[in-house]
Amino acid sequence: MATPHITADVGEIAPLVLMPGDPRRAERIAKDILDDPKLVSEVRGIGAWTGTYNGTPMSVMASGMGIPSVCIYATELYRFYGVKRIIRVGTCGAMSPNVRVRDVIVATAAHTNSSLPHLFVPDASLSLAPSFSLLHGAGHAAKAVKDVPVHFGPIYSSDHFYLVKPATTEGLIKLGTLGVEMEATGLYATAMAEGGEALAILTASDHLFDPSQDMTAAERETSYQAMVEIAANTLVF
Ligand code: ADE
Repeated sequence: MATPHITADVGEIAPLVLMPGDPRRAERIAKDILDDPKLVSEVRGIGAWTGTYNGTPMSVMASGMGIPSVCIYATELYRFYGVKRIIRVGTCGAMSPNVRVRDVIVATAAHTNSSLPHLFVPDASLSLAPSFSLLHGAGHAAKAVKDVPVHFGPIYSSDHFYLVKPATTEGLIKLGTLGVEMEATGLYATAMAEGGEALAILTASDHLFDPSQDMTAAERETSYQAMVEIAANTLVF
């Protein structure tokens, strides 16, 4: 059975899914960390790869960019493919002065300017949080990473890459927000609605207030590896 956006047969996608935004990165992660990765869906260039990670079945599938896109794929995975756990692995812009480019952020909550948290229950705005057991697992998995700082805290999912107002960032930073990205809110809301588990683990690819913190290619590689390692070990925790 296929869904409108995924052509894999039921059973071809593992219950544990790593979800980067970028389809090319999905292919690369799948080939880097999975044994015997097989391409099981490719609708609109959104590849889904399934193999095993240290003997456990795992899939890597891209989400595309933005809340609506991640909501489509996450809903179909939880609802029709029996997926239990999805961890988003992506980039974010660092906001907090305590976070440097190349650091990893585990998103303990997702603030947003999207109307999504209001769409599920009349007169209520959902509190968007990750699965506690995944967060707990990430706490353990992060201990094994020695060369990259790992921060735990809230992030902000913006509906517009270029429209983040100074008053918004100022207010969010005062409330301890670590970074800005565009998908975690969609994933957390979908997990809540579909009865699945979700977490977002991010690498800071830029800093909103310090464009000088460019990463070298080697640094980019280390932080990307740290994020994926934490995420994969959290999925199997
Ligand atoms: N992803 C990476 N950097 C970002 C930024 N500055 N804003 C939103 N999403 C991002």
